[in-house]
Amino acid sequence: MALTHDPTCILVTGGAGFIGSNFLLRMVPRYPETHFVNLDRLTYAGNLMNLRSIEKSANYTFVRADVTDSELLATLFARHKFTSVVHFAAESHVDRSITAPLAFVRSNTLGTVTLLEAARAAWSDVAHAAHARRFLHVSTDEVYGSLGADSFFTEHSPYDPRSPYSASKASADHFARAYAHTYGLPVCISNCSNNYGPYQFPEKLIPLVIARACSQEPIPIYGQGDNVRDWLHVADHCDALDLILRNGQPGDTYLVGGSSECTNLSLVRIILDLVDEGLGHPSGHSHRLITLVTDRPGHDFRYAIDASHLRQALGWRPRYSLTEGMRQTVAWYLDNMDWLQSVTDRSYRDYFQAQYGQL
Ligand code: NAD
Ligand code: DAU
Repeated sequence: MALTHDPTCILVTGGAGFIGSNFLLRMVPRYPETHFVNLDRLTYAGNLMNLRSIEKSANYTFVRADVTDSELLATLFARHKFTSVVHFAAESHVDRSITAPLAFVRSNTLGTVTLLEAARAAWSDVAHAAHARRFLHVSTDEVYGSLGADSFFTEHSPYDPRSPYSASKASADHFARAYAHTYGLPVCISNCSNNYGPYQFPEKLIPLVIARACSQEPIPIYGQGDNVRDWLHVADHCDALDLILRNGQPGDTYLVGGSSECTNLSLVRIILDLVDEGLGHPSGHSHRLITLVTDRPGHDFRYAIDASHLRQALGWRPRYSLTEGMRQTVAWYLDNMDWLQSVTDRSYRDYFQAQYGQL
């Protein structure tokens, strides 16, 4: 496969969050000749502890900044001569978007447009050498709305966002496409399904279940627990992003998914069994913690990805099965209880209390 883009300096936004830190932990050692500049505002979801193993690497720099700061972005583009942008920075939690949507419009939509503007200004001299620059906008399958029991999202599915989070991401996607179409900015978009793995903030289902099973506290399951998500290990997502950055066609969109669909209730039972096994509890011990609670407003029923375009065009394959990935993930959290404890103490308890009171 012909290489279409060979990055020398990459601006990674949101690199202290869940997927961004997994991306940097994989890519900084993998590409020692490439410089990585991590721009992150360090919201409640950003955590520099995640990046300890690479923080002193010669090819890594951290900048604490907001992606809506256009002056700072212009300075960084001039100083570092970025060849590439991988844009993760966003407010990412659907429940928070339901209680406070404006933060999502600001970071996800305005933040993306501000970054696109900075790239357009800095890269105007190379508008006709698209292979020399690449802007990878990392987005979500939620922009396509909710599926019934059958069918899959593809790159041709109509946009149908249904939460403030997905509306803010869909809007950002439209701006990214508009910059590709109108200005010829070499943009690729990826829309990925639910990720799991190390360093995920415990407001999201999987680390929440693990944390609360460890402390033997009730686990809130929305509605009847029959909503379906298509789970992908974060390492497989990061490798897909690396492929898209280097080999993706400017202007193209790639859907990324694990073909690992599961209802929330089945997934939670799998996780509880793994935690019980890891902690030496009797089999089935933690199932009693499952507590059905009022459903999330507007809760999307099912997401499922047809990733055949990414597979056929770029040869991507996920390496983790759901069984193997979940076993590895639960083991990681049990081995890193200090990490889970510190982020739980930091801001998660207040948030959980506000959502549920005493469950
Ligand atoms: P996360 O919430 O764990 O991390 C987001 C990071 O962005 C944090 O480090 C935060 O400090 C930073 N950030 C937020 N607002 C910022 C701003 N205004 N300026 C600079 N930094 C800011 O999110 P995540 O789960 O790692 O998701 C990363 C990206 O991937 C998001 O764009 C999300 O929409 C997308 N995505 C996530 C999933 C998933 O399952 N988690 C799936 C598909 C796509
Ligand atoms: O599909 C990709 C998206 O996946 C990403 O774009 C989002 O950033 C990411 O947060 C994730 O969104 P979800 O809403 O699907 O993830 P979450 O972990 O919040 O919830 C997964 C499912 O579990 C969902 O159906 C809601 C349900 N749930 C979640 C929580 C937090 C519960 O039943 N109880 C809970 O406490």
